[in-house]
Order: sequence, then structure tokens, then C-alpha cells
Amino acid sequence: DKGNHRHFMEKEIHEQPEVISHTLANYLDFAEGGVRAFEMPFDFGKIDRLAVSACGTAYLAGLIGKYWLERYARLPVDIDIASEFRYREMPLSKSSAALFVSQSGETADTLASLRYCRAQGVPIASIVNVRDSTIARESDGIFPTLAGPEIGVASTKAFTCQLAIFAALAARAGLQRGTLSDEEARRMVRALSEAPRYAAQALRLEGHIEKIARELSQVRHVLYLGRDTSYPLAMEGALKLKEISYIHAEGYAAGELKHGPIALIDESMPVIVIAPTDRIFEKTVSNMQEVAARGGRIILITDEAGAARASLDKFETIVMPTMPEFIAPIVYALPVQMLAYHTAVAMGTDVDQPRNLAKSVTVE
Ligand code: F6R
Repeated sequence: DKGNHRHFMEKEIHEQPEVISHTLANYLDFAEGGVRAFEMPFDFGKIDRLAVSACGTAYLAGLIGKYWLERYARLPVDIDIASEFRYREMPLSKSSAALFVSQSGETADTLASLRYCRAQGVPIASIVNVRDSTIARESDGIFPTLAGPEIGVASTKAFTCQLAIFAALAARAGLQRGTLSDEEARRMVRALSEAPRYAAQALRLEGHIEKIARELSQVRHVLYLGRDTSYPLAMEGALKLKEISYIHAEGYAAGELKHGPIALIDESMPVIVIAPTDRIFEKTVSNMQEVAARGGRIILITDEAGAARASLDKFETIVMPTMPEFIAPIVYALPVQMLAYHTAVAMGTDVDQPRNLAKSVTVE
């Protein structure tokens, strides 16, 4: 049931403040400000490597998870697209663990990667939305996302709930590995407890985003840029645009721009930049200036301080609430999803059932 929404995707985007909150509550104790002692098939303090593998949007959640686990828990993370991982014959030592990410729990390549790890004898955990799924059953332990059924083919709420779990795992891993003090972990928990509220605020930008999307629906190509955790999010934005609006979009690390893609920049190709004010904000701004100097049209997703500091004359801004840097990828996912959604609606495509795509990819 879509309720009073036009599409399941729109409904699922709007459910995010609630389902993120619900998911986080499973892993974090907001009253105590700590991380819960949830069951795990391995101890973060006893492994020296984590192999993460998934497909599509779930893979991009894993990529953001890698940034967090490496930064906060100093745990080296290998992340692969499952269709590559299953054939790449990665050596796994006895001191590694594997983590799979899948909304459906049935994705063929992800399942094959899991079975490869099973044969290697490492402990296996999975982040799944469907608890009664093959991947869930074949794992030693699961971290359920409590997103509820996701009907729209384009993943939205499952993605942000996967991110919520990675964030909680980073806090847990940091504590177990002794890289985070109790106070630092508490600060992360506090920041996460605010994520649903910021997500609700981001939803209020929908009217403005819809206007920008109407312009986007007129173009053939879009470039999405970001640095650090905004880089996987740029790829997620491009993936969402491709799959539901059929606009050709690419997500790039902003620093890679000058190594090739800058040659594409002209007046007809909008460049969407995701840049919350964080430690590398200025670097992204200088990449933006390179785009502007070549006549590129910029759509900047940032916060108030970022909008003031960017000070370019020709750009469109989506001004997000100011929030702790740690949780920005969870909250910035919403404008990115809304941009794709409203672009697709403006183009009149079948948003919930895009052509050539299936919700659950059970074949290779
Ligand atoms: C994109 C999308 C797909 C899935 C991918 C993995 O919006 O939905 O890229 O993320 O097919 O599916 P699951 O998570 O079910 O393994």
C-alpha cells in the first residue's frame, strides 16, 4: 500500500527517519549513550582484516562502511563487488572475517561470495533486510536492517539502514579494538541518535529539489562528485539517476576529476557536488572552481557554512542542516534519492519498476 504517495519509492524515501531510528535502536542504547552488546559471529578485537562484498547500492553502503571502520576502528577493510569477489580468489587468513550486505538476501553473486568465504573457513556475518533469506540462513550471524519491506526496485531506505548499521559497527569495533575512548564512542552514538531528526529536516527540502530535478530531466549526462564518504554517495546518486531516469550519470571522486573526466565539462553537463563542511571541504571547493572555470553548471549539496564558503557565482545550492560529519552520509543520501526520484517523475518513467531491472537478482 502506497498510502498517499504516488510511488513506493516516494513512500520509502519518506519512511527513512522512522526506519533509521528503529534500526539504530537495535544496536545502540540511546538512553545510556552506548553501544549494545548485540550478538556477533566474530570479535572485532581479534580479527585483523574484514572482507566486505555486495552488489549495487549495498556495495556502496559497504564502501562507506570501509571509510568508517578504517577511520574509527583502524580495521583494514577489503571491499569488493560480489560478482568480482566470487571469482577473484582472494586469500583469506584465519584472522579475517567476512561481511555481506544485501537487502533481499537472495542476490546470486553475493551468495556465491558468501559460499567462497565459507569454504575458506572464516566467520561470516551479513547485513540483510529479509531475515528469512538464503544469505541470512547461511551466515553465522546477521545484522538485520529494520527497514520493512522495500518494494520500489531502486533501493532507498534499505541503503540508509545499512549505513546506520555500519556506523554502529564502527563504534563497536573502535571500542573492541581500543581505538575509541568511551567518550568518543558516546559522541558517535549521540550523533547517530540525531540522524533521524536531520533526515526529517532533509525531507523538507523536497520542493526545492523537485524544481532542480525538472531542469535535470532536460539533460542527457550528469557528473556526480564527492570526496571521502561523499564519494561513494556520489556513485550512489549516479546509480539512482541511471536506473530510474535513464540519464547517463557517473559518480567520481572529486580529486580524480583532473585525471580525465574534466574533459567532459561544458555548459550542457550539470555537475552535482556533495560537500558537507568537513576536513576536506576546501579541496572539493577547488575542484568545483575548476568545473566553474570551464563553464560547468554546478548543483552543490552542502550546509549553510559550506554554501557561504563556496561563494561561486553560478551555482544552485541545496542547503542541508548542519550536522556532525560522521553522520552526513546517512542524511545526505536523502537529497540524492529525491533528486533521482523527481527527475524520473518529471521524465515520466516507471519509477517503481524501471525497465530491464528486477528487485532481486537471483541469476548471475
Ligand atoms: C539499486 C539497487 C541494486 C541493489 C543490488 C543488490 O537501487 O537496488 O543495485 O542494491 O541489486 O541487491 P540486494 O541488496 O538485494 O543484494
